[in-house]
Amino acid sequence: MIDLHCHILPSIDDGAKNTGISFEMLKEERKQGVKAITFTPHFNFNRIDVDDFVEVRQKSYDSLMAVPGVSDLGIKFKLGCEVYFSTKLNETELDPLCFEGTNYILIEFPTDQRPYGLRHTIVDILNRGYQPILAHVERYPYFTEDPQQLYDLIEKGCVAQINSGAILQGDKAALRYIRWGMAQLICTDAHNMKKRVPNLKEGMRFVKKKYGEEYVDWFEKNAVDVFKGRYVDEPMLKKPKKILGFWL
Ligand SMILES: [Fe+2]
Repeated sequence: MIDLHCHILPSIDDGAKNTGISFEMLKEERKQGVKAITFTPHFNFNRIDVDDFVEVRQKSYDSLMAVPGVSDLGIKFKLGCEVYFSTKLNETELDPLCFEGTNYILIEFPTDQRPYGLRHTIVDILNRGYQPILAHVERYPYFTEDPQQLYDLIEKGCVAQINSGAILQGDKAALRYIRWGMAQLICTDAHNMKKRVPNLKEGMRFVKKKYGEEYVDWFEKNAVDVFKGRYVDEPMLKKPKKILGFWL
């Protein structure tokens, strides 16, 4: 398995506070069966510029790689980040923010209200040849209340990611997106070893039990494709239907 969204790099965001916690998280990922990880610390245009972020991220990465035992875990690593949505993305060189060596860029959105310029900015990113991965799509009320908006973005080429933790909590939106074929990646978004832990194995086990092995195969294949920078197969989208006021 591959984890493409996690906050394991030490002392860079609200994830692992130090290299000790990072190492514990990596050991847990390995125990869960994860063999490749993209590190995705938060990046926010309002807090830091891209060049400084890249420098800080490299320092954090180097400090983790210097920990004895990390390189013996048998996990492949790539650098990436989780960009907080901003219309500034339109005027920014995106390569340093993409998953290393790929055109995939992980983007999260505000959870309270739909941000101004969402569609325009995302379409612009797609037109520039990049592929936005929409982080934890189950969290945004403006998508859950009107899933056709998300459907439309996926149809245009975006990749939708859901959190393993949301699945395990029985989050209705997350499960509905799986059922509709609108979720293409499951990741941990792990932040620590207490509440937001590496839990990909449990998440996949849940999916296997509820939806069948072919769903797990589909999620795992998509993660490999993204990690390698290949196109993800087109999802078999089932257009959401609203009947008697309920999305079915
Ligand atoms: Fe995250």
